[in-house]
Amino acid sequence: MPIHKLLSICAAGCLLLANCKQADDKPKNIQKNNPGEQQWWKEAVVYQIYPRSFKDSDGDGIGDLKGITSELDYIKSLGVNTVWLNPVYSSPNDDNGYDVSDYRNIMKDFGTIQDFDALLKGMHSRGIKLVMDLVVNHSSDEHEWFKQSKSSRDNPYRNYYHWWNEEQGKPAYRYSLFDINHDAWRYDSLTRSYYLHYFSRKQPDLNWENPKLRKEIYDIMRFWADKGIDGFRLDAFQFAAKDTTFPAFPKHFEKNFNQYYGVQGNLHGYLQEMNKEVLSKYNVMSVAEGSGNTLEDAHNMVDADRHELNMAYAFEGVSIAQPNGYSLLHFKDVFTKWDSAFAQKGWLSIFLANHDQARLVSRFGNDNPQYREVSSKMLTTFLMSMRGTPYYYNGDELGMTNAGFTKIEDYKDMPTLNEYKHLKQTGGDIPAFLKRQQFECRDNGRTPFQWDNTANAGFTKGAPWLKVNANYTAINKAAQEKDPNSCLNYFRKMVKLRNDNKVLVYGKYTLLDKANPDVYAYTRETGGTKMLVLLNFKNKPATANTGINLSKAKLLISNYAKAGGTTLQPYEAAVYQLN
Ligand code: GLC
Repeated sequence: MPIHKLLSICAAGCLLLANCKQADDKPKNIQKNNPGEQQWWKEAVVYQIYPRSFKDSDGDGIGDLKGITSELDYIKSLGVNTVWLNPVYSSPNDDNGYDVSDYRNIMKDFGTIQDFDALLKGMHSRGIKLVMDLVVNHSSDEHEWFKQSKSSRDNPYRNYYHWWNEEQGKPAYRYSLFDINHDAWRYDSLTRSYYLHYFSRKQPDLNWENPKLRKEIYDIMRFWADKGIDGFRLDAFQFAAKDTTFPAFPKHFEKNFNQYYGVQGNLHGYLQEMNKEVLSKYNVMSVAEGSGNTLEDAHNMVDADRHELNMAYAFEGVSIAQPNGYSLLHFKDVFTKWDSAFAQKGWLSIFLANHDQARLVSRFGNDNPQYREVSSKMLTTFLMSMRGTPYYYNGDELGMTNAGFTKIEDYKDMPTLNEYKHLKQTGGDIPAFLKRQQFECRDNGRTPFQWDNTANAGFTKGAPWLKVNANYTAINKAAQEKDPNSCLNYFRKMVKLRNDNKVLVYGKYTLLDKANPDVYAYTRETGGTKMLVLLNFKNKPATANTGINLSKAKLLISNYAKAGGTTLQPYEAAVYQLN
């Protein structure tokens, strides 16, 4: 199964939580999350920063915390009020920081804890909140816990991980997403046992059944919350609970991976405990990747009465794009289904890209130069006008495109490199694999941020850790600052429109012209205010049949200078005020 697909499955829903700042003993009753109830995290526009690729301050070719701090005025200028930072903890970097070796420290490549404090201060002084990634389904095999755990069968840390002793026979097969052989059990000769790793062999899974481990994690969360951060995104958390009897799964279960790995065992119990121990005591928003198999699973995680999480981050939408295109009818259906499931209770996030996906405009729009800008702006219009908290991935505001690497040497992403080795070993179809990577490899979304047209796009004065996209001379922030019609300035306008019009945050969503295969049309409505959004998802003119007379409607924004009316130009986007 392609890696991006598995990652989308593993991400088959996510959650965000919001709770408060200084710890005190009384839980603050702020977890109300019915759609009409106002919360800062519902009104947030979350800008996701991939630190490795954002801005390098010291010329080592790797983005860092000081680099982000130096661009805080830029981030502020976007109008966004929350940043989600991918992991910056100490890590040997097998999976770019998703393998943590010290949860209370900063990765050397990224700087120091003092740099972190300065970054947080700089954000807060500009009214920007900071959400941190928390990677606790697994740690690095270089974490002290694992070093202890593997040292002997009776080490006090043994039970922090999942071990299977050799004399019990071979453990039942578990699929590893990132391992070369896809076997999630790794034999360790020192103690003649196997340990479990759903991701790479350097990412052993933590044992959430162990109350001591859970307490350690809550202490870590308090450490960061006491520093004043504003949220957590719980990485791959839907996999944290497991059936630790490890029964055999049917052959080829990995094709239905999520059913066997997602939201198992006592996951809701752990979330409730985490909520009681940490989340309810701070004003933090938290994201737990993975919403389970069903809408009900997702709901249960964000039902305010259950005291777990606040915001679902469902991945069904982001998985729709395929190398040969996608059906808009399917797209509309998925987003409408999720909206209606959360219309009365709970809250969703809205996104179409992140660090695990290739670029937004290349997957969902059209990165052909003729249509790149309009289609990118059309997708921005969609993301900023749906109900739910929008997540917007750095670089998409410039309409950055996929890297299009043709050689395996250009790729750095561990699962891609491992899968390449796997195919080499098993005689797989390498040309087909390389072709697919151009569309789906995560590196496509991780190439350095394109600041200007100087060497390395102004990202670094050294040699960049991952090749800069060759189109940086044409697509870069400096050029777009000067152009009032750039993707960047359109993004700013769309964020402002959302910030100024709470109907775009809280208003009821109604799908119109459902059977139209080219146009996505919907209204947002609350307290006597109604807006209409018309989006042409195709590279040809299309007509919206909404039945709404536009003669008295006020056009608030469009990605074309001459816009208006029900016949839409290729990738045209328009938002109207109806009353
Ligand atoms: C999540 C992250 C991804 C990472 C994986 C393992 O899916 O988003 O980047 O590789 O977890 O931590």
